[in-house]
Amino acid sequence: MRLVFDIRDDALANGIAANTAAARAAFELRAFPDGETYLRIDSDVRDADAVIVADLARPNPKVLPMLLLADTLRAQGAAAVTLIAPYLPYMRQDRAFNVGESVSSRHFAALLSAHVDRLITVDAHLHRYASLAEIYTVAAQNLSAAHLLGDWVREHVPDPLLIGPDSESGQWVQAAAERAGCPWIVFGKTRTDDRSVRISGSVEPSLRDRVPVLLDDVVSTGTTLAECCALLRAAHMSAPQVLAVHGIFAGESFAALERAGIERIVTTNSVPHPSNGIDLAPLLAAAITEPWR
Ligand code: R5P
Repeated sequence: MRLVFDIRDDALANGIAANTAAARAAFELRAFPDGETYLRIDSDVRDADAVIVADLARPNPKVLPMLLLADTLRAQGAAAVTLIAPYLPYMRQDRAFNVGESVSSRHFAALLSAHVDRLITVDAHLHRYASLAEIYTVAAQNLSAAHLLGDWVREHVPDPLLIGPDSESGQWVQAAAERAGCPWIVFGKTRTDDRSVRISGSVEPSLRDRVPVLLDDVVSTGTTLAECCALLRAAHMSAPQVLAVHGIFAGESFAALERAGIERIVTTNSVPHPSNGIDLAPLLAAAITEPWR
């Protein structure tokens, strides 16, 4: 029996449950007045395949309740605990860039690996790691939503040019462009600090009449996309559309991007946000039913 535990604020878990004929679990997870977590599981989880569907963007307040849920499921006899976290946090600090820095991606991976049996995520930020297996010791599956972004472009944008802000985005941009049947390019990016980047590159004249679609895995402060937007404006291209897998939109960045002249911003429902326009439920549901051990 598969039981889905929804600890998000949107319809993604419902979609996954519906696509896999799984039951929604009954439980109460809330904060006591002192901020500590209260948890009660009302479903019988003995021998169940328990699936936690979580949004782990802005992770710190969300991770401890999620780990308590995972441990409680194990204590009450669940056969396996799978965590579906479409956005996998703490992947960007993947090396000590300065002496003394924590490689927090490794420590976060060790923490999750101690509490769940299986992890399913989408387009994890694998930059200096070849795969999640380098840091996760449990079965960890990294799905890609690039084809879904490509399908969205094909259906919604005439004469598109897909543009990635940096060389790492090439993997998603190429896959999406092949699906959409359109040309693609990538710019170059140098990050100078948490909130500033320099974007370099150019668009060859024969591509400048196309509709620019900026495509990235994560939008965090929005600085990367705002700088790309400025470069496109300087090349006299039309206002870009933006497609991203994970829309974090730190602080006021969503409004700032709209002011920066972006025509439309569409994200997957990896992270609940008004820009969500691409549903990950079928992709995640297909993965959950695959054999994994
Ligand atoms: C970085 O390598 C990622 O692919 C994104 O480009 C980056 O995380 C975006 O961050 P921000 O929105 O803060 O510029």
